[in-house]
Amino acid sequence: MEKKKTKQFKIFRFNPKTDKRHYFDTFDVPYEAGMTVLQALNYIQRNLDGSLAYRSSCREGICGSCAMHINGKYCLACETQVIHVKGTVTIRPMAHLDIIKDLVVDMNPFFEKLKAIKPYLIPGDPDEGAERIQTQDERAYLNTLVDCILCGACYASCAVNGFDEDYLGPAALAKVNRFFMDSRDKADEQRLALVSDEHGVFRCHTLFNCQVVCPKNVNPTANIANLKRQIIARSLTVKFSKKGM
Ligand code: FES
Repeated sequence: MEKKKTKQFKIFRFNPKTDKRHYFDTFDVPYEAGMTVLQALNYIQRNLDGSLAYRSSCREGICGSCAMHINGKYCLACETQVIHVKGTVTIRPMAHLDIIKDLVVDMNPFFEKLKAIKPYLIPGDPDEGAERIQTQDERAYLNTLVDCILCGACYASCAVNGFDEDYLGPAALAKVNRFFMDSRDKADEQRLALVSDEHGVFRCHTLFNCQVVCPKNVNPTANIANLKRQIIARSLTVKFSKKGM
């Protein structure tokens, strides 16, 4: 029987309870076409080092739990084919979030920011029980916006999140635009007020990292740009109306 090829994996290790600093462990993993990085991690954990910690659940790009830094790019381990990664596969945890162990980070700050922007429909007038009709075009606009799986790859790739820990970040800001653009939502001013301060949309430096890494093509950069435009348009309207224009 033909022997399988092996690939070298270099993996970030750190246990804050016992280690003074992080280090990398290397493992040789037998692979074949079709094997994902997540499957390689499973192999390592089951056969080479049972103490390796990482997150995963769905194994098919839906749950968002396996986002990590693989050879220079944040991506989903379950959607990354080993044969597509050139040379040694170097894996690091997501940046800007505290490490719990190895590749597992504390996602709480990420989800707290998401909670802060009220990620749900605010329908306005009390119309309990009334059906909120949406046209096909109105729904089509939301098609990519609702695809976010909250993996956090955009958050980790964003340099601004690295120096401003209060910055809401690409995922939360894109989610604001998702509800702002929803015809059933009636909280435009409330939503724009939430993202107008120094930790909101104007903190974005339009680096496009979030757009590049998003595994679902949500394009947070464009969503943030739309919110900036909306806020600026409103401020201009106020100035004009004060001059009686
Ligand atoms: S395991 Fe669910 S997205 Fe990768």
